[in-house]
Amino acid sequence: MRVLVTGGAGYIGSVVVEKLLEGDHEVVAYDNLVKGHRAAVSSGATFVEADLTDKERLAATLREHRIEAVIHMAADSLVGESVGDPAKYYRNNVVAGLALLDTMRECEVGRIVFSSTAAVYGEPEKQPIEEADALQPTNPYGESKLAFEKALKWYDHAYHLRYASLRYFNAAGATDAHGESHDPETHLIPLVLQAAVGQREFVEIYGTDYPTRDGTCVRDYIHVSDLAQAHILALGALDRGSRIYNLGCGGDGYTVREVIDVARKVTGREIPVRESARRAGDPAVLVAGSARIKRELGWSPARQDLGEIIGSAWTWMQKHQNGYER
Ligand code: UFG
Repeated sequence: MRVLVTGGAGYIGSVVVEKLLEGDHEVVAYDNLVKGHRAAVSSGATFVEADLTDKERLAATLREHRIEAVIHMAADSLVGESVGDPAKYYRNNVVAGLALLDTMRECEVGRIVFSSTAAVYGEPEKQPIEEADALQPTNPYGESKLAFEKALKWYDHAYHLRYASLRYFNAAGATDAHGESHDPETHLIPLVLQAAVGQREFVEIYGTDYPTRDGTCVRDYIHVSDLAQAHILALGALDRGSRIYNLGCGGDGYTVREVIDVARKVTGREIPVRESARRAGDPAVLVAGSARIKRELGWSPARQDLGEIIGSAWTWMQKHQNGYER
């Protein structure tokens, strides 16, 4: 298939591009490089540096490459930032997303896979979280993703846009070629590894008084290549109708302390920690029920072991101590 990946130079986007190319799809990575890295785009893909709101450029790209489906990953995705600057999240995640949908309609591209998030559930009422559970985002990031999901539903109803909305839990790890490099970095595993190599003095543990097995937050870490694989499966299923899936490994998840302990074993380094206050907007536990995508698409995570996930991030980080070259 001929696929356009928005946000194709980002952390997850770069791995989705890599996997699409491995599956012999033709790929255009479309990214404004505000956060993405040109060096993260595999050489087999066409790269277009542009904004989603640049309708002319987007339409020209869709037409020139005869795009059949879009994987829409371009977004802002920091919960804390969204609370302080909701306008940015509504602008970049909702307004720019709608501009994409309108341009797709204009160019008669009728299939989309969308990067959604566990943040659409807010503070969940039960674990593991299933797709039919209550949608009650507790921050503008989750609200913006949910608003776009709702637009997809109505565009499908009125215009027959076929969509798959993939609600990611915590993406982690790296492939040989692509890994995580944010500036500033806010995610737990890369921060832990930065502490392991001495790039930072310690890792902060945000909150030790949660009602969990060791007082720290529980999350469901999923290897980025398993996440990418789900996009390929979702893409192939679009003709059979629209769908929404959670994506995580399930089980008991891992606490922040468990992540740090596993990272100590994997790296053989000390990793100093400092306990601090809770971070605003963090639910205590987020664990995915992913039975639906397993049942309907036969997806299953190949790398569930946290040691393996962190090990892959560690290998990538040692090769790219300063992230991607600018
Ligand atoms: N944490 C720390 N110290 C740090 C960084 C994180 O203790 O220095 C903790 C957080 O409080 C959280 C866990 O580690 O409990 C994971 O935090 P991340 O920032 O790595 O990831 P989040 O769970 O906050 O966010 C992820 C995605 C978001 C998505 C969210 C769903 O990055 O895009 O899951 O809730 F919205």
